[in-house]
Amino acid sequence: MERKTIYNPNSKESLNDRRVFGGDSDGMINFTRMKYQWALNLWDMMEANTWFPREVQMTQDAKDYKYLTPSEKRMYDLVLSQLIFMDSLQTNNLMDNINPYITAPEINACLSRQSYEEANHSKSYAVMVESISDNTDLIYDMWKNDAKLKEKNTYIASVYEGLSNGELTDEKLLLAMFANQILEGLYFYAGFAAIYALGKSGKMLGSSQMIRFIQRDEVTHLILFQNMINSVRKERPELFTSELEDKVRAMFRKAVDLEASWGAHITQGQILGFTDNIIRQYIEYLADRRLEAVGYKAEYNVKHPIPWVDGYASFNDQRTNFFEGNVVNYSKGSIDFDDF
Ligand SMILES: [Fe+2]
Ligand SMILES: [Fe+2]
Repeated sequence: MERKTIYNPNSKESLNDRRVFGGDSDGMINFTRMKYQWALNLWDMMEANTWFPREVQMTQDAKDYKYLTPSEKRMYDLVLSQLIFMDSLQTNNLMDNINPYITAPEINACLSRQSYEEANHSKSYAVMVESISDNTDLIYDMWKNDAKLKEKNTYIASVYEGLSNGELTDEKLLLAMFANQILEGLYFYAGFAAIYALGKSGKMLGSSQMIRFIQRDEVTHLILFQNMINSVRKERPELFTSELEDKVRAMFRKAVDLEASWGAHITQGQILGFTDNIIRQYIEYLADRRLEAVGYKAEYNVKHPIPWVDGYASFNDQRTNFFEGNVVNYSKGSIDFDDF
């Protein structure tokens, strides 16, 4: 597969012929003439979700951090360090590995916005790290000393590398979309839940708020890739073979195992409300929702073991406004999948 032509005046492609990939668009990002309505809806939602890390109050977190238990401190640091890796990877992955092959301009626009948001998440980690630590390298370099952290990062990077190395085929690009769905929809979630667990016990509330903003963005990223996959399913049904499904399910099972063992590693049975089994079941529950969202049957069929996490993550269910400043006055973009 070739990279798309960025400016393509000879294009004869009608709007109806436009394709997620393998199309021949003229390259104009024309918001008045778009094929994929879901991409326009998503763009509007992403725009409404705009937020600025510096405006989240971290003063109390700087004090709270000093009084965390050693287990809580370790967990907080590891979570940040791992999130830092994933957003760094994703900022570049989207622009270097995915966007060059996507031939629908409205989807290129959403991917560009997503890439900016991943970099903005990196900015938010810097705000968090700087407010709790004088030596920021300690957290940024944790992967050098924590074997489990390095293992998770290395595996995730290797999946993307494998899918972008050598000649790109339709199936490889499609599998890369599933890999993105897994990254956006599974690999962040043990870490998010861990920060919310601190927040639930009244600690590190600024960090919880930061993670809420980040998660609200990640939900739109997840929807973006799920919609890309579902649009390809309509355009290229022949690609959705039983062999492809086997590969996708294998990717999901591996991701669930990795994320569950990561969750166990960061909590070490020391965090209230989390056992290794609860974490695993939560990740399995999420994997089932992701599979169903792209037209596959659930793999695990388990119930949500910690529904409080969803309420805690939501902007619509905050009983107390802990925060000053205007951050909470931004649009409360809903995260309702049914809109798409
Ligand atoms: Fe992100
Ligand atoms: Fe993301």
